[in-house]
Amino acid sequence: MRLPRTAARLLPLPLGAGAALLPRRAAAQAPEQVENRTKGKLQKQICQVVLDHFEKQYTAELGDAWTSVRAVLTNPLCWQYAVLLNKFSQPAELENALHLKGYHPAFQGPLPCLPASLKCYIRRNPGRFPAQKHQAGKLKEYYLLNAASLLPVLALEVKDGEDVLDLCAAPGGKSVAMLQCAYPGQFHCNEYDDLRLRWLKETIESFIPDPLINLITVSKLDGRQIGDLKPELYDKVLIDAPCSNDRSWLFSSDVQQAVLRLIQRKELPCLQVQLLRSGIKALRPGGSLVYSTCTLSKAENSDVINLILNSCSNVMPVDISEMAKAVSQEFTFLSGTQHHELLVLPEKGRAWGPMYVAKLKKM
Ligand SMILES: C[S@@+](CC[C@H](N)C(=O)[O-])C[C@H]1O[C@@H](n2cnc3c(N)ncnc32)[C@H](O)[C@@H]1O
Repeated sequence: MRLPRTAARLLPLPLGAGAALLPRRAAAQAPEQVENRTKGKLQKQICQVVLDHFEKQYTAELGDAWTSVRAVLTNPLCWQYAVLLNKFSQPAELENALHLKGYHPAFQGPLPCLPASLKCYIRRNPGRFPAQKHQAGKLKEYYLLNAASLLPVLALEVKDGEDVLDLCAAPGGKSVAMLQCAYPGQFHCNEYDDLRLRWLKETIESFIPDPLINLITVSKLDGRQIGDLKPELYDKVLIDAPCSNDRSWLFSSDVQQAVLRLIQRKELPCLQVQLLRSGIKALRPGGSLVYSTCTLSKAENSDVINLILNSCSNVMPVDISEMAKAVSQEFTFLSGTQHHELLVLPEKGRAWGPMYVAKLKKM
């Protein structure tokens, strides 16, 4: 394939450009080790062809807001990382250590759907708390993530005893978060990709204790088939869909692959609609579903949800604006969205997202 002229250009990035969002099995490290590792990733560069593509699309879709979003997405030096505590393994000193480093609870005040057992810490400064090494037989104490990843989980409002399906589950961050919120009846995690399935299993083993692990089913199915295989079986379904993943695509190191992704990007909404139709089939009447992506793209967000609402007579939108209002101190949202959806826009000091969340209920 012949690449556009811009595809060959890669922009150098400042120090820290390669900070990984969800480090796997990195050893607990001293600050100087983390800094050295960050320096070692200096080589990471912005992929100009992706940036050009986003520039055009998001200027049209977000207007002025794109300028400040772009400033965060293209500068990993200002990226922030939240610390989700593992309620199944919590040393008393951890919360003190977080306070000493300037962290505070991400969700405070009146939040209708916040279970006391879900504890997540954030701070305004960029950088991240050291990752923990995997040790066989020992549960990890916390999970590092983008704080906006918890919004789909909060919106789903999983309650004790409910049967839950996480349709696209790897690497497992939201599965772990849902299990911090409640003790479901059945908890079914599904992932289609072999390698990522292994990662999902490892995450579950690292965070969930034995008696509870036995209640979790892990499957490797095409999520589009689950509705037919398990019709009307679940009270809650999470579809954290495969999507453009704006943050990581901007740092694609393989330009040809990036160009191919941008071409294939047009096919994602079709897959997302099929996953949603399958998830709706898998829901019991009265059950609810949350759809989320980590892209700003309207075609993969509102357009997909509108298509579902206009074509499925058995689903209705659920208002999540109260939740958005309750967390608006820590998150910046795109204005003008409908009550059943929200889009988190990264901003300096609140560098969370992109994250789109929509909630539906089956009649
Ligand atoms: C955004 S990621 C999920 C992240 C995960 N929920 C978390 O919080 O850690 C989307 C996942 O969907 C998987 N996927 C892609 N196509 C799928 C399909 N047809 N059925 C099920 N999963 C699929 C991808 O391999 C990827 O792991």
